[in-house]
Amino acid sequence: MTILVTGGAGFIGSNFILNWLKKYDEKIINLDNLTYSGNLENLKSIEKNSNYQFFKGNICDSELVENILNESQPRAILHFAAESHVDRSYHDPEIFIQTNIVGTFRLLEVARNFYENLKEKDKKLFRFLHVSTDEVYGSLGSKDSAFKETNKYHPNSAYSASKASSDHLVHAWNHTYDLPVLITNCSNNYGPYQFPEKLIPLCILNALKGIDIPIYGDGQQVRDWLYVVDHCNGINAVLEKGVIGETYNIGGWNEKTNLETVNEICRTLDEFKPKKDGSSYSTQIAFIKDRPGHDRRYAIDASKILKKLSWKPVETFEEGIRKTVMWYIDNQDWAQRVQSEEYKDWMKKNYI
Ligand code: NAD
Ligand code: TYD
Repeated sequence: MTILVTGGAGFIGSNFILNWLKKYDEKIINLDNLTYSGNLENLKSIEKNSNYQFFKGNICDSELVENILNESQPRAILHFAAESHVDRSYHDPEIFIQTNIVGTFRLLEVARNFYENLKEKDKKLFRFLHVSTDEVYGSLGSKDSAFKETNKYHPNSAYSASKASSDHLVHAWNHTYDLPVLITNCSNNYGPYQFPEKLIPLCILNALKGIDIPIYGDGQQVRDWLYVVDHCNGINAVLEKGVIGETYNIGGWNEKTNLETVNEICRTLDEFKPKKDGSSYSTQIAFIKDRPGHDRRYAIDASKILKKLSWKPVETFEEGIRKTVMWYIDNQDWAQRVQSEEYKDWMKKNYI
């Protein structure tokens, strides 16, 4: 048996592949066009594994995807590929429309054609699992209940609007064409291999470089952090036990303000890599201009996936942050290599 993953060279996709090959003896194919955030180095440890195969290509390339499906006959497609950074979607929304909406549409069409031609017994097994985000639900007030699967969509950024559109397409392909889909909407992830444009890796690496740790606005925005391996295991649970056509929220029950998160990182670094001058890394925190349209609070109610599929996060925030900080300390060469000219241009564009 085989599964096909899109976007497997990115942060969550590469953690998913590494976790999958540790747990299961089933082939996994990775289709990724290696944008700035896709990095095959993440998968170096398994590149020779006979259960792993990589194709460089775009999800918008229907002919390529069709060939891969026909050749490999996967029992499932797990769709991670996306443009994923809110700040980039502010500066350059078009690629978000192209990849997240058009790309998902093309993938759905090819998957539909493939599915319709399967034998009945293979049809029963086949799943299209769409990996999405809690950001589609919009922003919560401090006293609002956490997002449930039944919440109305209210996306506020080009990123979240493009992901919301893709969720609607996936839902429609089930409703209209009977494609057996599953949708997951997950909260903010953190862990190894996250591209250092997102808050947690950016904070760790800037702290280690001795430069400002940028906090947008007042730093009181709330995110619900989940360790990436917990997310991967949640996806596995949905793939194996989820009910076709349904959505499952995945979250960490772990709301933190950005300032709390950054202070936790600084405390961890103070303990494991103390600065030579004895000062705390928190002295590098710098409050800067807020993100336009910044969502104030996200929080996931993950009780459905607990009740129906018996999944819950196992990593504590303190331990997850400790593992993540240690990974970035030990892999500063990885971080340096992904910080290309494009990355430097991005930092100038967004922060100066
Ligand atoms: P990422 O940016 O680290 O990785 C995205 C991957 O997709 C990269 O490897 C990139 O090369 C690939 N890709 C982009 N466009 C492509 C295309 N047209 N064709 C083929 N491959 C393409 O993102 P991530 O953080 O790993 O997120 C993965 C998925 O999870 C996304 O769909 C995202 O919306 C969702 N998600 C992310 C988070 C989070 O906190 N990071 C939380 C919830 C959901
Ligand atoms: P991010 O990691 O970009 O994820 P998302 O926008 O998808 O939630 O940002 C997490 C939070 O951290 C968000 O409220 C924005 C904030 N943030 C900063 O304060 N400074 C930064 O430099 C970055 C990248 C994010």
